[in-house]
Amino acid sequence: MKPLEKENIFDIQKIRSDFPILKRKVNGYPLVYLDNAASSQKPQVVIDAIVDYYSNYNANIHRGVHALSQEATDAYERSRNKIQKHLNAAKPYEIIFTSGTTHSINLVANGFTTLLKTGDEIIVSALEHHSNIVPWQMLCERTGAVLKVIPMNETGELVLEAYEKMLSDKTKLVFCNHISNALGTINPINQIIQKAHEAGAAVLIDGAQACAHLKPDVQVLDVDFYVASAHKMCGPTGVGLLYGKEKWLRKLPPYQGGGEMIAEVTFEKTTYADLPHKFEAGTPNICGDIVFGTAIDYLNQIGFDKIAAYENSLLETATRKLLEIEGLRIYGTSKQKTSVISFNLEGIHPYDVGTILDQLGIAVRTGHHCTQPIMDYYKIPGTVRASFSFYNTFEEIDRLVEAVKKAKQMLQ
Ligand code: ALA
Repeated sequence: MKPLEKENIFDIQKIRSDFPILKRKVNGYPLVYLDNAASSQKPQVVIDAIVDYYSNYNANIHRGVHALSQEATDAYERSRNKIQKHLNAAKPYEIIFTSGTTHSINLVANGFTTLLKTGDEIIVSALEHHSNIVPWQMLCERTGAVLKVIPMNETGELVLEAYEKMLSDKTKLVFCNHISNALGTINPINQIIQKAHEAGAAVLIDGAQACAHLKPDVQVLDVDFYVASAHKMCGPTGVGLLYGKEKWLRKLPPYQGGGEMIAEVTFEKTTYADLPHKFEAGTPNICGDIVFGTAIDYLNQIGFDKIAAYENSLLETATRKLLEIEGLRIYGTSKQKTSVISFNLEGIHPYDVGTILDQLGIAVRTGHHCTQPIMDYYKIPGTVRASFSFYNTFEEIDRLVEAVKKAKQMLQ
């Protein structure tokens, strides 16, 4: 059989040439960028779109009658429509622009303050990023609701039997990530959503990691809220999305007060603007929000099926080759997994490994990855995390493996 790494699933050299940063050297070595779960790199088309906005039609939106303001407003709303289509949301106004996943989650958590009472229950998963734990703890403090946690097992999967037992008519909200940023586990969100709905609870899915690898369909999922960030999807930092079902977005109060989110203001009473503007107070990141649409177009032109197939073969190859190194343990071995490999070398601190990899031009993340409960489960301070994107190559996997071997020799 033809080895997987030799299969030409798509034109990788052409794709790499779209990303100027991949040509640079770090510490004298060609850069191997394997920190994609933290932030992806940006293709030239995205960089050009940023320059185009500031060079040609920079203006505030929804405010001026002048031409530049109209052009910026049209581009901004076109981007909202692209995101709507990408997620298959029913209405464009079910897409709210935010500054990122964390902002989106806080917006929803804040909104539920008036909808919960003492004794209500909120369920989160053991695999959550801190940004999908702390806002709900703060919501519990404000309302007297109780936080419950779906446990995980050794492979980094959620224990669904325990989840089902936890659900009751007290459960009001369930939160889970689509893909774990620390382990790469793809969670069974279809089942999680369906069971929550049977119990009468609303569900928020954190798609921050997932949206770089797959294309969610919010109507097929029947999810109440779905959140993600542009910067992990080849878009700019400081930009995110909140998808919410219309019925929920109408029920939630505004998150911030200010311009743009109002219908009428007097000192006696203010009425709020309709969706989506009710949740978009102040001047947003206009350029970033517009360019988010450009990034989504770029990913769709490559195609998520091809991206997934290629990244899966990178994952398989890297896993196999890394496991040949004695004393290397991979954390997160779920069958349903994306291209994230968290690992440690026996007796060696992940930070030390990461430092040597950096000296060899290889960028990985080390530490707890904003998921301390997962690290506590495995009783480790952190891991080395190599996260692959569709612009990585099989040669870069070989560079990683050789560098890890070298780190082991130096640190043992
Ligand atoms: N959440 C990002 C990560 O996993 C920053 O690295």
